[in-house]
Amino acid sequence: MKTHTLLMPLDMHLHLRDAVMLETVAPLSAYSFSGAIIMPNLVPPVDTKEAVVEYKERIMAAVPNDFFEPYMTLFYKNYDKAFLADVAEEITAIKLYPAGITTNSEGGVSAFDIEEMRETLDAMAELGIPLCVHGETDGFVMDREAEFMSIYELLAQNFPKLKIIMEHITTKAAVEMLDKYENLYATITVHHLILTLDDVIGGMMMPHHFCKPIAKRPEDLDALLSVALEAHPKVMFGSDSAPHPQSAKESCGCAAGVFTAPIALQLLCEIFDQFGKLDNLQAFVSDNAQSIYGICPEFKEVTLKQRTFVVPEKYGNVVPMFAGEAIAWAIESVD
Ligand code: NCD
Ligand code: ZN
Repeated sequence: MKTHTLLMPLDMHLHLRDAVMLETVAPLSAYSFSGAIIMPNLVPPVDTKEAVVEYKERIMAAVPNDFFEPYMTLFYKNYDKAFLADVAEEITAIKLYPAGITTNSEGGVSAFDIEEMRETLDAMAELGIPLCVHGETDGFVMDREAEFMSIYELLAQNFPKLKIIMEHITTKAAVEMLDKYENLYATITVHHLILTLDDVIGGMMMPHHFCKPIAKRPEDLDALLSVALEAHPKVMFGSDSAPHPQSAKESCGCAAGVFTAPIALQLLCEIFDQFGKLDNLQAFVSDNAQSIYGICPEFKEVTLKQRTFVVPEKYGNVVPMFAGEAIAWAIESVD
């Protein structure tokens, strides 16, 4: 049976929530990842220095050991330079949500007016703070990400020194942007390396496969696989693991978000192995992110083995992706 060791896995897009949910999910990520970029879409959003510092303390209190680094983010608003200089040492990035586009994003950006955003984005470029973007318009659901490409171009052209991360990309259009602008990067989830829209609504409607952005077409899946499997140096793994209580998912009016944190590395091994690309997984789950963000994570060595792992039905009151199903790889040890 094959084994595969990953050093310092990083999850570059993670929702940990707060309170009881934080206590349920944070240890699961801390077990197998060295660190994660923590999303700020709490209610209210994380938009002050105090909120960042206090949220980080609550995360650290929820994880059982010190070998997990929460890389904190601030919820994007048009901040002034003095504020950003003051908060810079507490954060790794700033996350921009278009207003109302996804869970808890109501306070986001309602118009992409470059002049209104200039002071903030210039200051971020100067201070070396990357901008992480949820890139969707409010158009037709299958076109939202592709329609956002012109906004990425506007940002990339106007702020060439700003590192812009296209979060959780789902389309061929976004993949093609990577080579067009030096300052554009991307995260890719594990579920978007598996699902198309067919797996969400093509047969039975699958609430645990429903997320924003929604999974797209087979040709989009192929484009995502092509850059992930080759570990294109501008792409990083970001799970976008987004836990919601079972009652919020299995309801009429299903919340968007797929919970994958505890099964992500196992699924990635399965996918990369299927395509004969296991040797590229290290770059995709850690090395690329270290170079792009300039971070040195805590040492962690995770060994996975090719043996059946049956995904638990629930973690607390959260149903993971593939609950009750078998994955071909399991975590053997973490050192
Ligand atoms: C995320 C959440 O639930 O916070 N949901 C999702 O479908 N991905 C928000 C987000 O990243 O869009
Ligand atoms: Zn997210």
